[in-house]
Amino acid sequence: MLELTLRGVSKQFSGKLAVDKVTVQFTSGVYGLLGANGAGKTTIMRMICGILNPSSGAIQMNGQEIIRMGEEYRDLLGYLPQDFGYYPDFSAEEFMWYVAALKGLPIRTAKARTKELLRTVALSEVSKKKIRTFSGGMRQRLGIAQAMLNEPKVLVLDEPTAGLDPKERVRFRNLIADLARDKIVLLSTHIVSDVEYIADQILVMKKGGLMMSGTVGELTASMDGYVWRCSVPAKEVDQWNSRYCVSNLRHEADRVELRIVSSKQPADEAQPVAPTLEDFYLYHFQDEQEDKLKKTKGV
Ligand SMILES: Nc1ncnc2c1ncn2[C@@H]1O[C@H](COP(=O)(O)OP(=O)(O)OP(=O)(O)O)[C@@H](O)[C@H]1O
Ligand SMILES: [Mg+2]
Repeated sequence: MLELTLRGVSKQFSGKLAVDKVTVQFTSGVYGLLGANGAGKTTIMRMICGILNPSSGAIQMNGQEIIRMGEEYRDLLGYLPQDFGYYPDFSAEEFMWYVAALKGLPIRTAKARTKELLRTVALSEVSKKKIRTFSGGMRQRLGIAQAMLNEPKVLVLDEPTAGLDPKERVRFRNLIADLARDKIVLLSTHIVSDVEYIADQILVMKKGGLMMSGTVGELTASMDGYVWRCSVPAKEVDQWNSRYCVSNLRHEADRVELRIVSSKQPADEAQPVAPTLEDFYLYHFQDEQEDKLKKTKGV
């Protein structure tokens, strides 16, 4: 049984509280860390990996402080950093051997694990090709493979789907589902659909804090009665758009059917509809999106 616990964990950088009193407990399963840019996802992951020390609070693995566990904890850990540095002139295989050496694996074990993992991430056929010739998706899969070299019990993947095309995203999801048995897998993203299908639990971060956590069903259920369908004349669409959070629209002749996320019924004829995780995200992060929109529009 695995149990990784964060208790009141905060990280203060000079002038910036990046993580604010986060308390959470992980047992085996896939956890999706969802949050906008700057929410604190990377910072929390780096603390879990022991690269950064919390300013306050405690991180424990099976009841032991991770900072006291040292090597014993690092042996349990696999990490794919967000800004992962690949060596373009290494082949996939050489890169794996190199990381294995850094992790202190004996050569024979390193070679055997490399072969097995490159097969798992479907890179066997290109194992001798230089990384510089790889697509973004191939690099991400290599990144996951290197994180798995020491057979980690805690696998931390920071934005593992960044730059993947839709087909690669599906492949990634299946890969994680396969790898996740008897492990704690924590992956961060700001793309809702990446965690919607594979995460057992979703942790939503906003401005350094853990805003909410739960299964997809629990999070979407919290939006019951907040999502509406409403048909409006095409010429009124801009007006509705500026007044409400419109998550989708579909044109039908001279009318438009809007999907609106709102705590109040937007119009008498608006019908409540079943919420999705995307509606949840839009509802809780719309202010940040508006801020961003204002910035891009220079308002
Ligand atoms: N070393 C640092 N020094 C100062 N501030 C930092 C440092 N690292 C992160 N921050 C700040 O802490 C906040 C959280 O950053 P973090 O990288 O954890 O966010 P994130 O959720 O991973 O964002 P993204 O989705 O863009 O990767 C940001 O405001 C960031 O600017
Ligand atoms: Mg990040």
